Amino acid sequence: MKMSDKLISAEEVVKHTTPESCWVVLYGNVYDVTEFLPSHPGGSRIILQLAGRDATEEYDPIHPPGILEENLKPEAKLGKIDPQTVAAAAGEPATKDDGKKKGGEDEDSYPPLESLLNLDEIEALATRRMPEKAWAYYYSASDDTFSKSYNNAVYRDILLRPRVFVDCTRCDPSTTLLGHAVGLPIFVAPAAMARLGHPDGEAGIARACARFGALQIVSNNASMTPEQIVAGAAPGQVFGWQLYVQNDRAKSEAMLARINKLADRFKFICLTLDAPVPGKRELDEKQNFGRGALTVASGVKTAGEPARPGGGGVGQQLFFGTASDLTWEPTLAWLARHTHLPVVLKGLQTHEDVHRAARYAPQVRAVLLSNHGGRALDTAPPALHTLLEVRKYCPAVFDRLEVWVDGGIKRGTDVVKALCLGARAVGVGRAALFGLGAGGQKGVERTFEILKAETETCMRLLGARNVGELSPRHVNARKVERNIFDGEAGLEAPGLWDRVRSKL
Ligand code: LAC
Repeated sequence: MKMSDKLISAEEVVKHTTPESCWVVLYGNVYDVTEFLPSHPGGSRIILQLAGRDATEEYDPIHPPGILEENLKPEAKLGKIDPQTVAAAAGEPATKDDGKKKGGEDEDSYPPLESLLNLDEIEALATRRMPEKAWAYYYSASDDTFSKSYNNAVYRDILLRPRVFVDCTRCDPSTTLLGHAVGLPIFVAPAAMARLGHPDGEAGIARACARFGALQIVSNNASMTPEQIVAGAAPGQVFGWQLYVQNDRAKSEAMLARINKLADRFKFICLTLDAPVPGKRELDEKQNFGRGALTVASGVKTAGEPARPGGGGVGQQLFFGTASDLTWEPTLAWLARHTHLPVVLKGLQTHEDVHRAARYAPQVRAVLLSNHGGRALDTAPPALHTLLEVRKYCPAVFDRLEVWVDGGIKRGTDVVKALCLGARAVGVGRAALFGLGAGGQKGVERTFEILKAETETCMRLLGARNVGELSPRHVNARKVERNIFDGEAGLEAPGLWDRVRSKL
């Protein structure tokens, strides 16, 4: 009998619950994770809360396959849990509320997806159905959540200017992104941990995107592997990979090597710059303090483990190990050494930075204007403000780069307004996750169905037959223009680096 086939009783496992000896059960196997505790990206406390019992339910939705093997030595697998002993030893789980649905309602009490008519109704259903912790993580934003709300409200301050006597019998919302044909100008923005909300996860989002020819940017913190997510992709379906550069650069380099191998699907790297550190998301952090969730005192950690400021919500755990020392030349040069894929810079929030990004074309092929869904710096400007700044101060960048936006999109009219002002496409992050929470893959499909139909209706009522016909003349953005940054352009004269580059 192999060592790892040894049967271990639940009574034995339950004795190992301290930083000095910590065992957990995952997928029927017993692991000694004591050595790994200090290097767990989420901190040792999370594991210690689950010590001495079966942690599969908590572990599974947030860890892509392969992580156990990557992080534990083979001898850490001690054996199999003896199923005969489990029932006898089963006490109340320490975090019994973690997976609880908000309402705990019957399946029959939920409205059918086709009866949901807008994204708010989808979000409301997701809120009822999803585990509370997942909902709080997705819903949360920083501080007073002003930027999150304003991202959406700002669209109401732009009015549409419909033209009449236009034959709008047909409407084509398709476009291209970085030269790749897509069915609509709406993409899935990177948003972490899809399986927290529904077991269909990122692969479910991918299958929904396939139906609409939509581009999906997969989160660096996806709950499934990139290989799993693209495995069932449709012909021509395209993806981007989000990169949060890690302090341990070797980890990011290894991931880039994997993405390079999947270059038939992943067409660009979306380098994220808007959250070098996480924002303060109080709703997410609060989850650690409710209903006995903290069974291990918050101060407990293994010796030598770095201190973790804050309450340690899901966001803070995910950000642990993310590099905050990125800068233009060194980071882009490093990236160029590890991938030939084009780069989309995500999280630019001023025209100065967009102008600077344009100097790195063609390595940088697009910018994604984003304030991280209001989850990073509260009171940072919505992407629409940055878009209008670019129009005002450095419109030439539209000829060098594609400009994409995300944040606050809830209606087809929002999509169309951004396009009229020069955005090539708009991203939805939370909306995709709430679609998933409301009904798995089918819920994401319903989300796209609604947004696509609303976008087409808006285009037709404006008198635009395709996205190429949308123009700034279709909107009155004066109210928002009045509120954008109004100082000096502040654009640096090209330096030595640019002169060298321009001669290459
Ligand atoms: C977040 C990160 C992981 O916003 O993108 O939670």
